[in-house]
Amino acid sequence: MKNFFLVENPLVKRDVTILRDKNTNQNEFRLAMDRVSHSIAIEISKSFELTEFEVETPLEKTKGFKFKKQIVLIPVLRAGLSMVSSFLAMIPDAKVGHIGLQRDEKTLQPVDYYYKTPKNLDESVTIVLDPMLATGGSAVASFNSLKQKGVGKCILACLIAAPEGIKKMNEHHPEISIYTAALDRQLNSVGYILPGLGDAGDRTFGTL
Ligand code: PRP
Ligand code: URA
Repeated sequence: MKNFFLVENPLVKRDVTILRDKNTNQNEFRLAMDRVSHSIAIEISKSFELTEFEVETPLEKTKGFKFKKQIVLIPVLRAGLSMVSSFLAMIPDAKVGHIGLQRDEKTLQPVDYYYKTPKNLDESVTIVLDPMLATGGSAVASFNSLKQKGVGKCILACLIAAPEGIKKMNEHHPEISIYTAALDRQLNSVGYILPGLGDAGDRTFGTL
């Protein structure tokens, strides 16, 4: 698949299993979400361009590196919030915007309720954080909004993706790279990912 990256290592496989398990409690769920997000952040960082500069150690001058572009994280509320702290731990100087979207339970269409992003997105690398890529409606709507405001390079970081969501992203935003820790089988009749992990927002925030 075009621009598709499956983030796989034994830690991620173990933690995705913890996330899937219906008996995992809220605290363990959040901790596993943190750890997987950490691995995804590292994998995404391999695509960052670097600028060289001179750094002085206590002993001598040597070559140093910094990111060429500002990194901007955009969690999609609510569930995307669960990925922010891990990304910020790895990229402490990232700016953070927020997009509020809620799927209408009947139509499965995303309804937007909040949008606030940093300035100069066109000169930044923007990473949209949302653990679930199901129908793809929320992801496509997020990138539509960002493009309307004028965005530069964009990446989608998720935890579990359904083939339906990837197909929709490829149709609407084929240039955007998608990173995920698992590619699942399909959606059920009410738009939940199978086998999935259930409702990511509810399991993260205890609103089941
Ligand atoms: C979930 C999830 C995504 C969306 C994915 O959010 O966090 O944003 O569903 O589904 P889609 O690909 O079919 O659009 P939800 O609407 O449940 O809101 P919440 O995070 O506030 O619970
Ligand atoms: N949103 C979720 O939280 N889980 C799914 O399986 C699909 C959408």
